Amino acid sequence: MKYVMKGGIPLVGEVTVSGAKNAALGVLTAAIMADETVTVENLPDVMDIKVLLSAFEEIGVAVERPSRHKARLNGANIFSACADSDNMKKIRASYYLLGALLGKYHHAEVALPGGCNIGTRPIDQHLKGFRLLGADVSMKDGKVILDARELHGAHIYLDMASVGATINLMLAAAMAKGNTIIENAAKEPHIVDVANMLNSMGASIKGAGMDVIRIKGVDRLHGSEYMIIPDQIEAGTFMMAAAITRGDILVRNIIPQHMDAISAKLIEMGCEVTELGSAIRVTGKPNFYACNVKTLPYPGFPTDMQPLMGVCLSLAEGTGIITESIYENRFKYVDELAKMGVDAEVRGTVAVFKGSGILRGAEVNAPDLRAGAALVLAGLAADGYSVVNNIEYVLRGYEDFDGKLRELGAEIAVAEDDRDIHKFKMRVG
Ligand code: EPZ
Repeated sequence: MKYVMKGGIPLVGEVTVSGAKNAALGVLTAAIMADETVTVENLPDVMDIKVLLSAFEEIGVAVERPSRHKARLNGANIFSACADSDNMKKIRASYYLLGALLGKYHHAEVALPGGCNIGTRPIDQHLKGFRLLGADVSMKDGKVILDARELHGAHIYLDMASVGATINLMLAAAMAKGNTIIENAAKEPHIVDVANMLNSMGASIKGAGMDVIRIKGVDRLHGSEYMIIPDQIEAGTFMMAAAITRGDILVRNIIPQHMDAISAKLIEMGCEVTELGSAIRVTGKPNFYACNVKTLPYPGFPTDMQPLMGVCLSLAEGTGIITESIYENRFKYVDELAKMGVDAEVRGTVAVFKGSGILRGAEVNAPDLRAGAALVLAGLAADGYSVVNNIEYVLRGYEDFDGKLRELGAEIAVAEDDRDIHKFKMRVG
């Protein structure tokens, strides 16, 4: 599938941010640790969530969808701690089942994670933590196998502040015997959300959002009702959309403090950013200026926003440098931007953008989720028509992306083939 679009229209209006995909993946997995019903609200309607819920059903989780953004889960009848279906392999967050099943059943067999190809993405820190909690770890037929006679609290020091490892170890330790300390924990908003969710189910987790998380294990987790936080990265994407298309967008349903690193860079580039309670307004400017950015764990500038910043810098005045410090392979979109006339050079984990102020419409390929979204915004700022291929990546993580962009005035449509593209061009003119 593709998006076809005609660029050059400043995006103007209001957009409401959906629930956070990456928080939802952790929260839903936490939910299956209870033998009672858990209701999760504000779920984003995106492919990764649908795939995860299907994978849950395959191991016996009862899943009800009372409405588009709500799920009711009951993990009382899970009949298998082995999760190795094709659905499991499609998404990276299936590895949260390692922590959840190990915590609940002391045994887990989970296919190695898939997800976006943005670097090597090892899980050694997850496995180190599971071992310290008392699990034997082995690999067989592409699966990680965890087995513990007894799961006990431990003192775990993470070599890097890994989001996935922090969530996975919180899940397992929530039901281990005794106290666990996770040092050098990741502090991303979704870490706090998963901890809050587990606490709402009766867990005892303190310090989430700080470097050190302390967990007192409990014997059981109970039912709960929980509302997912708004998606920091989706919000950031629309903030950048205002800058990139020189538009004016009010982004509703945000947690302002989650946006600080992104707002700071937009202001540094000369955009106007106004915080209005749970909304934020970004007013783009005809001329804005290059800056330098380094991706860092939260509260630093998020790696997931890096490709969007690349598009911003392609349009800015002057030379801007991005240093990607989380993933070693997250600049694949730069070759695609070159097709739109961008003058940028990648040297290892550093990319140098010589802003030109203009982009040319072109046919480009989305290499992953966030880069796909960035290329769409580039197309909306470019002269003439653009086509972004492989939008399955974008659909994994953005709810109704093209619909929300159309509400802001964008000329964009989903296309299957050349006929659809032709029809779009005839309609838009
Ligand atoms: C999460 O990935 C997000 N995914 C990613 O979002 C996001 O880019 C990333 O955090 C960083 O913010 C989900 O939440 C599902 P990490 P995760 O463990 O958990 C290295 C998106 O577009 N590392 O914090 O996989 C790793 O290689 C996605 O929504 C180890 O070396 O990220 C990376 O360099 C893409 N060993 C760094 O740490 C480990 O055991 C951070 O990874 C674990 C991680």
